[in-house]
Amino acid sequence: MASAILASLFHPSEVLALVQYKLAPKANYDYSSNKTRERLYYFLNMTSRSFSAVIQELDEELKDPICLFYLILRGLDTIEDDMTIDLDIKLPHLKTFHELIYQKGWNFTKNGPNEKDRQLLVEFDVVIDGFLQLKPAYQSIIADITKRMGQGMAQYATAGIHVNTIADYDEYCHYVAGLVGLGLSELFSACDFESPTVAKRKDLSNSMGLFLQKTNIIRDYLEDLRDNRRFWPKEIWGKYADNFEDFIKPENKENALRCLNHMVYNALGHMKDCLEYLGMIKNASCFKFCAIPQVMAVATLNMVHTNYSIFTHENIKIRKGETVWLIKESYNIDNVAAIFRMYARQINNKSNPLDPHFIDIGILCGEIEQVCVNKYPGSTAELKRLQAGVMAGTSGTVLTAAAVVAGAVALRNTFA
Ligand SMILES: *[C@@H]1O[C@H](CO)[C@@H](O)[C@H](O)[C@H]1NC(C)=O
Ligand SMILES: *[C@@H]1O[C@H](CO)[C@@H](O)[C@H](O)[C@H]1NC(C)=O
Ligand SMILES: *[C@@H]1O[C@H](CO)[C@@H](O)[C@H](O)[C@H]1NC(C)=O
Ligand SMILES: *[C@@H]1O[C@H](CO)[C@@H](O)[C@H](O)[C@H]1NC(C)=O
Ligand SMILES: *[C@@H]1O[C@H](CO)[C@@H](O)[C@H](O)[C@H]1NC(C)=O
Ligand SMILES: *[C@@H]1O[C@H](CO)[C@@H](O)[C@H](O)[C@H]1NC(C)=O
Repeated sequence: MASAILASLFHPSEVLALVQYKLAPKANYDYSSNKTRERLYYFLNMTSRSFSAVIQELDEELKDPICLFYLILRGLDTIEDDMTIDLDIKLPHLKTFHELIYQKGWNFTKNGPNEKDRQLLVEFDVVIDGFLQLKPAYQSIIADITKRMGQGMAQYATAGIHVNTIADYDEYCHYVAGLVGLGLSELFSACDFESPTVAKRKDLSNSMGLFLQKTNIIRDYLEDLRDNRRFWPKEIWGKYADNFEDFIKPENKENALRCLNHMVYNALGHMKDCLEYLGMIKNASCFKFCAIPQVMAVATLNMVHTNYSIFTHENIKIRKGETVWLIKESYNIDNVAAIFRMYARQINNKSNPLDPHFIDIGILCGEIEQVCVNKYPGSTAELKRLQAGVMAGTSGTVLTAAAVVAGAVALRNTFA
């Protein structure tokens, strides 16, 4: 559940672009001189190749803490997710996981044989060794988030996940994604790369996580439905259908699109917060680490808006070329604000005046535009440059088949 956010920060196809663009040389890191470190990064790469790629973007000081933050949440998630574990074993582990990570030598062997990340927990003593070598300030941040996430998971494991109201939806997304945002912000401030304000603005950190999670939840309608997971709040979908699965029926197409755009409208509501958050991030490496998933989410939201294919196709994703382009362009706030404006304009432009949220979406897009003009005036020139590039096809330099093939080769060489 927790790893849902971390793992789906990037679509597998986007890893290719990450590797091609920034991370290819560094992805060949060699940690063999230190057995603990080697094993930790082996597990990181095993559990999430995409996260393992983005982590290479970070400065040394933050790599280990964020790697361990990920592995610990992943361990917690692997216990939560395994339906072969009885609740009377599962619940106490979820509730005390933040204490177990301080117990040298602790491991967990009760996962079923088919649990794909079983080995991580079998060798969890390695994660604990790494964790205990972190600075105490980082340890307490990680333990605190682990505690809160474990409590959330225990609650959902007992009562089930019932997303009825929009408040339930926000709460669920807070547990699985907002808390990760909070923890990352605290780590950024604790290592002094960023001002203490970054950690203090918990509302903005939470929005960063919610925006990513909600975009994924919208995109993954069909996949989640197949696996009998329902994260769209009934308060929204209930306005457009009697049953959540009715949207796949062709005769409900019109209502399906209305519902979809209502969901998009709800997610768009976080974009101003994300822009404000990214405006606070000064360190170039932290900035890229935070900004890349956000611009992917904005591009994805634009793709799903008014797009019936989310009800007919699983695994929809932005084009590889677009991904490469986004990663390359997300290096400072003016740039990212320009990207946000570009997609907000596209969303607004695609809106149908007959859609019940036509005006609401228009207002939000206008507000995003306004925030950028006021706070990031440099984004106006960037926007012109981006649009000129898109129209003149200069972005075609990264969109060519050759570039994509080169990326695929780089990916294969790195990960094969
Ligand atoms: C080995 O790696 C761990 C985790 O990255 C680190 O805490 C520890 O200081 C390293 N040990 C040595 C001897 O460098
Ligand atoms: C797991 O922990 C148990 C009990 O502490 C220990 O006997 C066992 O060797 C550990 N397993 C591994 C793979 O470290
Ligand atoms: C991030 O901040 C740290 C600490 O101030 C500094 O050492 C590092 O060079 C910065 N990295 C970048 C890429 O700005
Ligand atoms: C709708 O989604 C599909 C599947 O990802 C995509 O190929 C198509 O370009 C999208 N349509 C629009 C108008 O964005
Ligand atoms: C708005 O949509 C029209 C077609 O519906 C298209 O021709 C135009 O280029 C779009 N403008 C922007 C800014 O996307
Ligand atoms: C990451 O894992 C893949 C297999 O899943 C492996 O081929 C590759 O060598 C690993 N990369 C690193 C840097 O450990």
